[in-house]
Amino acid sequence: MRTLVVGAGGREHVLCHRLAESGHEVLAAPGNPGIEEIARLLPGTLDVSGLGDLVARASAEAVDLIVVGPEAPLVDGLVDRARSAGLLAFGPEAAAARIEGSKAYAKEVMERGSVPTARAVCAKDLDGGLAALREVGERCVVKADGLAAGKGVVVAQEPGLAERAIRDCFSGRFGAAGSTVLVEEYLEGEELSLLVVCDGNSFHPLPAAQDHKPIGEGDTGPNTGGMGAYSPVPSVDPNLEERVLDEIVEPTLWSLRKDGIEYSGILYCGLMLTPDGPKVLEFNCRFGDPEAQAVLPRLTGDFGELLASAARGDLDPSVVGVSPDAALTVVAAADGYPESPRRGDLVEGLDEAGEVEGAVVFHAGTRRTEEGIVTDGGRVLAVTGVGADLQAARDVAYSAVDLIDWPGKYVRRDIGYRALPAG
Ligand code: AMP
Ligand code: GLY
Repeated sequence: MRTLVVGAGGREHVLCHRLAESGHEVLAAPGNPGIEEIARLLPGTLDVSGLGDLVARASAEAVDLIVVGPEAPLVDGLVDRARSAGLLAFGPEAAAARIEGSKAYAKEVMERGSVPTARAVCAKDLDGGLAALREVGERCVVKADGLAAGKGVVVAQEPGLAERAIRDCFSGRFGAAGSTVLVEEYLEGEELSLLVVCDGNSFHPLPAAQDHKPIGEGDTGPNTGGMGAYSPVPSVDPNLEERVLDEIVEPTLWSLRKDGIEYSGILYCGLMLTPDGPKVLEFNCRFGDPEAQAVLPRLTGDFGELLASAARGDLDPSVVGVSPDAALTVVAAADGYPESPRRGDLVEGLDEAGEVEGAVVFHAGTRRTEEGIVTDGGRVLAVTGVGADLQAARDVAYSAVDLIDWPGKYVRRDIGYRALPAG
């Protein structure tokens, strides 16, 4: 197949990598310098004004399958446009992508399906927000309703923080995304990401992963898009997976159907494993980043055909298998991330890191210049190690990421700590 991956980050790099490894031709728009080594890049912007051109290019290239990485073009209707142009596209249409695009809508869907999730109170203005805070209590999580590039969630770890976050949202910091705010009960437990491939009718879970969202070791400090991930997760046994599918995935898809939505693409279930069982923290309408960099390297077989069959509405899970190997991904971030990452620092050691056996270096925020590859975003690289177990995978990932350097490079040293002894 001739495939086109839409996006420019680490998740899109691993999508390209897996499609290429399963023997497909890969195009990417707009891609990045790492993707360029394995795919032909097409120009394009992912804002809503560029989506028409993107579909026209895909048609002109006679692409067999479009795979959309990030949430924004999904919410903006890229898959709807591609399907209208007669192209096969993997991902939810705009109405379905609202499950990520509006956290208030996701709560409505969950409520209708009796899906276990944190109790939340929605507010449309500051007075309502402060009333919601009084109702839920100081130990809470404040969330902007709309897409805020992973920055719209504040876990109130100290007094006063929740109120500040509510005031921040209503002061317009997130634009329209913050005009509705959810104040949510704080849930305690271990987090889990389950990526479920859906075809509008049936579904198939990929191996579970655990992400590390906070910037600091021991899960401290502000949230980021994700500083590292690993798969498998030892605390997930077949019973737990079954429970998530029965209590969360099935009723969510059922509830979406009540709105006329046959969900197709990835349903990313962000879960908290609480003493009362798994509860939903969030749904995303796409592969997780960096979860994809830890999950996809474990899939054997034809990953492209898995996605194509789902996009056709005829999901065939038998085209892939799961390797017993473990994978662990470490994100290397720029100085100042997540608030204000510095750009333009020269990255050294990429080739050496790529030669470490079992390691793959995925580019996330990089740019090619005459001097070489420079940093160009908050999360700069995601380095995945694959090994016989998590310990081996971690050793590979850190030995590769430690060969890479730039001024101010930041890496969490404890990825996988819940599953592994420190070291
Ligand atoms: P979200 O984008 O909604 O998943 O939130 C980002 C991160 O904030 C999650 O991965 C959790 O680490 C944390 N979080 C979100 N909601 C809650 C909650 N109700 N209780 C505890 N932590 C949460
Ligand atoms: N790593 C979290 C996400 O992709 O939303």
